[in-house]
Amino acid sequence: MRDIHQEKILILDFGSQYTQLIARRVRECRVYCEIVPFNIEIEKIKKSNPKGIILSGSPSSVYAKDALIIDKNVFELGVPVLGICYGMQLMTHLLGGVVSKSAKREYGKAELMIDDKSDIFKKLKAQSSKLKAITVWMSHGDRIENMPDGFVSIAHTDNSPVAAMKSRDSRLFGLQFHPEVAHTPKGMDIFKNFLYNICHCSPSWTMASFVEYSVENIRSAVNKKRVMCALSGGVDSSVTAVLVYKAIGDRLTCVFVNNGLLRKGEAEKVLSTFRDNFHINLIYADAEERFLNKLKGITDPEEKRKIIGREFIAVFEEESKRIGGFDFLAQGTLYPDVIESVSFKGPSATIKTHHNVGGLPTEMEFELIEPLRELFKDEVRLLGKELNMPDDVLWRQPFPGPGLAIRILGEVTKERLDILREADAVVLEEIKRAGLYREIWQSFAVLLPVKTVGVMGDERTYENVIGLRAVTSTDGMTADWARLPYDLLCNISNRIINEVKGVNRVVYDISSKPPSTIEWE
Ligand code: XMP
Repeated sequence: MRDIHQEKILILDFGSQYTQLIARRVRECRVYCEIVPFNIEIEKIKKSNPKGIILSGSPSSVYAKDALIIDKNVFELGVPVLGICYGMQLMTHLLGGVVSKSAKREYGKAELMIDDKSDIFKKLKAQSSKLKAITVWMSHGDRIENMPDGFVSIAHTDNSPVAAMKSRDSRLFGLQFHPEVAHTPKGMDIFKNFLYNICHCSPSWTMASFVEYSVENIRSAVNKKRVMCALSGGVDSSVTAVLVYKAIGDRLTCVFVNNGLLRKGEAEKVLSTFRDNFHINLIYADAEERFLNKLKGITDPEEKRKIIGREFIAVFEEESKRIGGFDFLAQGTLYPDVIESVSFKGPSATIKTHHNVGGLPTEMEFELIEPLRELFKDEVRLLGKELNMPDDVLWRQPFPGPGLAIRILGEVTKERLDILREADAVVLEEIKRAGLYREIWQSFAVLLPVKTVGVMGDERTYENVIGLRAVTSTDGMTADWARLPYDLLCNISNRIINEVKGVNRVVYDISSKPPSTIEWE
């Protein structure tokens, strides 16, 4: 098998908020990379045989009492090293140069004057009126006072005489600024120079090669045994299922649990996509009644979540026992879930645990198959595309595990679920019709636990209120309410009130997160 990791870049993480961004930029250059804790043993680095090493930034200072220091043999491995911000200062400090506190902290945009246009700054076009200057993003309190022996300065700013440096043999590089952020518009060119010209990597990390490599890996790991996969219909579990199916065909069985808390038409859609189009073995567990019985009389949001989580596990376990004979469980864990988010504190720091569909119990007797563990979300979509999956699966807005139960404030009943499903379907239809579905992070309806007075024809009504929620976000951690056009709001409101029996009022939620949350419960 061709090893697509033959050309690998290692990123030593010193805890910068931008470490993941460095990895994404390298991958965008189609070079495979991994983030590892800064204190990884030198033997492990040698074993993984990287074509180059990048030292990330850090909130720390090389002179702090608990500074994050590495074995300086990293610079003796013969592979190119790029130190970014703290990485550059550490390189300086370990190789005998001097780092000191800047008289003035440099933060934000700066003009970088390039003094050597070979190597890492090759073919960069100046962006500013100042000759040979490009715009870069600075964020540092320390600066290089004296470079180590054998180094030369290759760029400067008004505040930093050494804003970039290299060793005379053009193998070790330091950048005081952050090429990985969007505020450094030529950053990608700098990475390309480092990866292609200095590390001699080729742009070979493509989704086609990933599929080939991954399929072979899954085949040899599974080795004629059988795999189960909990399919939610979301992007990650869907792509996992199709990839594993490509590798082992009918030895994969997917279980889709209909908990009765799904959107209108959702269950049918999952069945038709995976069973009819992809011909994947799919067990459809209709557990609607079970879930609704358990949720009777429950109004507390956390209680709802617990009940739904427990019930999901129970159904899944029953199904896996009923069919029997499975050794592996496939899960859609992604790279950001795998990276030790606090890896700069040391390799022993806990890895964030991830539960994909509803949180499967760890004591289940399965070995895990996690074919997406090396990928970022946007790469998963590319992978899905490579596997000929339809756009409406790949670009689905996130949907919470507990489903509509946490969008019905108060008790969850079949009647209230049906009202919400109809209203929610109108919201999605109109958002899609307006061409806004992809740019909006999540858009949905919420059923409120109040009734209000209305008038329809000559009659007074006393009916439900629907809350409309639409937010923009990049990761769901923070969010802002979407500035939907008035005409669209008008269409949504009119249609819901006219078409959904039991609703006579629609309100729009204009709260950001924080301090509000995206969901209402
Ligand atoms: P909040 O409401 O906390 O939501 O701003 C952030 C993101 O998480 C989703 N969410 C959940 N997803 N189980 C899930 O699988 C849950 O219990 C849950 N609660 C919130 C929410 O839809 C949003 O994308």
